[in-house]
Amino acid sequence: MKIPYYDLEIVHETIRAEVLRTIERTYDSNHFILGNELTSFETLYASYLKIKYCVGVSNGLDALKLSLIALGIGRGDEVIVPSNTFIATILAIELVGATPVLVEPDIKTYNLDPTRIECKINSKTKAIIAVHLYGQPADMTAIRNIAIRYDLKIIEDNAQSPGAYWGDEMTGSIGDINATSFYPAKNLGALGDSGAIMTNDSALYERCKKLSNYGSKEKYIHEIIGFNNRMDELQAAVLKVKLKYLDDWNLKRRQIAKSYIELLSGLSDIVLPYSHPKAHHVYHIFVIRSSRRDSLKEHLASCGISTLIHYPIPPHRQQAFSDKSYYNQSFPIAEELADTVLSLPLFPGLTDPQIEYVCDKIRSFYHE
Ligand SMILES: Cc1ncc(COP(=O)(O)O)c(C=O)c1O
Repeated sequence: MKIPYYDLEIVHETIRAEVLRTIERTYDSNHFILGNELTSFETLYASYLKIKYCVGVSNGLDALKLSLIALGIGRGDEVIVPSNTFIATILAIELVGATPVLVEPDIKTYNLDPTRIECKINSKTKAIIAVHLYGQPADMTAIRNIAIRYDLKIIEDNAQSPGAYWGDEMTGSIGDINATSFYPAKNLGALGDSGAIMTNDSALYERCKKLSNYGSKEKYIHEIIGFNNRMDELQAAVLKVKLKYLDDWNLKRRQIAKSYIELLSGLSDIVLPYSHPKAHHVYHIFVIRSSRRDSLKEHLASCGISTLIHYPIPPHRQQAFSDKSYYNQSFPIAEELADTVLSLPLFPGLTDPQIEYVCDKIRSFYHE
């Protein structure tokens, strides 16, 4: 049996006719930038998240970058960020000229450990970026309490968790301003790059709208220095269709994760994903840990099973950051995760026999 890590074809096949009709309609409209598709997607996505405003943008990195700029964060400011995240979260802080202050994750949830934040706060600290990694919400109760106590802004990086909840609040709606990515393989993915910014603050919304469009609200009137970071009409139109299926796809992801957890429990070398009782996890990635990760990965590959590692090199060890002294520290939990994590195949459409096959092959690795 061959099992891909991710198979978009199965997901896309079920909505093929609807998506193609939407693409045709947009094509026939001959209007490709800043039109009705974008406006209506923004309204729908904001109402899905139960938040006031959404700005569709070019990708998740730009969503984070514009969120920081909109908050006025730049040179001389510090931003708390998890040491275990996709590099984009940290790149955004670098791109606006601020300094990332890396904080280790909780070893159970893999998300920012709130107990380690306060000792990193000083007069330069302006914000905390809470990343909901792998589909698991970060502890927003504790993070919000710290932000209130020290008067810090919260930015959520919800790229991996659309549809997740912390308590009864949806991730991506909790922070002062929040960013997401619609990279094609995300739980809600476009047919190319795009992302969004969400906020309840009308001034931040207006600033982000302008920042994403050359600093302009009205054509050829440029009020601030901005970028070209817009989401195009085709992506917005397709995302409108796919948004209708997000909850259903997330449910399937949760069912697959439940099966994996049942079938893999009891293997002493395998650490299974933990879900906090307040967290509604949407399993963007099903991450296990193993002390023999590399040989397990090889064994699974020899059985036709593709796996990935999220992420093999922690951000502070990336060459891109090698000339900055503040990365030259040890982050043992992020390093331990990079050495032991393994992501198993997970996508809506993965069948029970495929899940059983993956679990059988993991068990046979330990029993042989
Ligand atoms: C946690 C996280 N933040 C930010 C991004 C950046 O998003 P994009 O690839 O759309 O720039 C991604 C994904 O790619 C991500 O996983």
